[in-house]
Amino acid sequence: MSLYQLVYLSQSTRKLDKEELFALWKQAKANNGTIDVTGSLFYNGGWFMQVLEGPAPTLASLYDKIAKDPRHRDLRLLYNEPAAYRTFVRWTMNMTNLEDRQADRYEELVEVIEAAKAGRKIHALSAAVTLLNIFKS
Ligand SMILES: Cc1cc2nc3c(=O)[nH]c(=O)nc-3n(C[C@H](O)[C@H](O)[C@H](O)COP(=O)(O)O)c2cc1C
Repeated sequence: MSLYQLVYLSQSTRKLDKEELFALWKQAKANNGTIDVTGSLFYNGGWFMQVLEGPAPTLASLYDKIAKDPRHRDLRLLYNEPAAYRTFVRWTMNMTNLEDRQADRYEELVEVIEAAKAGRKIHALSAAVTLLNIFKS
């Protein structure tokens, strides 16, 4: 089945504390492991950015489910294209809380947020994916 990579940005409805974020991550990790989905989730206290990778139909239904989650709103799909390989092979869901580390990376996230606001598409291995890749290990 064809592999797809999807990237979206959303606003958290309210600021999640560490425990809430941990609960979200655990839930995502557990579910993704059973449906062959890998990816990365990024949170800076106000915005989420997530990369999801997996079979196209699986991603479509997962994205629908995630979009209904009351913990965030205003989802903007930035990228949804076939991918030759997974960027996050080892991660059923990698998690980065920008509040904890590398706050200097914030500028790069802002660029992606601005692109989303302006309705501009981003490219494969663009700033968003590169950025999430930095936090992989
Ligand atoms: C920002 C964000 C990212 C999420 N990412 C995932 C994910 O990658 N995989 C997943 O299964 N659920 C994810 N969720 C949680 C889903 O929205 C939903 O609550 C969960 O999948 C329900 O799990 P259940 O069907 O086992 O009850 C995410 C939620 C938010 C707010």
